[in-house]
Amino acid sequence: MSKSTTVISRKSGILLIFSAALTLTWLVAGAAAWQDKTVWDGVYTDAQAERAVVLYEQKCSRCHAEGMTGKDAPPIVGPQFSSNWNGLSLNDLFQRILVGMPDDEKGTLTRQQTADLVALMLSTAEMPAGKTDLPTDADALKAIKYVGTKP
Ligand code: HEC
Repeated sequence: MSKSTTVISRKSGILLIFSAALTLTWLVAGAAAWQDKTVWDGVYTDAQAERAVVLYEQKCSRCHAEGMTGKDAPPIVGPQFSSNWNGLSLNDLFQRILVGMPDDEKGTLTRQQTADLVALMLSTAEMPAGKTDLPTDADALKAIKYVGTKP
């Protein structure tokens, strides 16, 4: 191998390592940003929460009370609820409602209705609204963490 080719291949070797390191940094940072999304990052819209108001009255309020403060059923807003769910993903909460609520009519809600109800719960908990609706997709919901108290 001539001297000049060795220099070139060394250079490209270094470049390769450098770009691999960059890619890795980018991946790690990307994964962190993805995981760090919480319910305080504006993950639903006001319009979406609004859509669930009538549904909540029809399907939930007789057990969980009008302001979600609980009566025959536990509160679904406030410190107790927040500490129960703290650190879990929004998909867990979504599934809890989709599969288990209303308690006497389990499995009757659509994914869209469930997402809208979760949006209303976040709004009632005074977590900020944003510019895009809360998704109905499980993977997207898994990437949002429920954090009970404002960071
Ligand atoms: C017939 C009464 C009843 C209705 C209607 C009802 N729930 Fe519930 N819900 C309960 C009871 C009882 C529990 C607690 C026992 C349990 O976990 O199953 C509960 C638990 C929950 C929890 C979990 C609370 C926690 O601290 O982990 C959520 C969230 C919830 N309900 C949301 C809803 C939503 C949203 C609706 C309306 C679509 C609804 N529920 C309708 C009775 C009801």
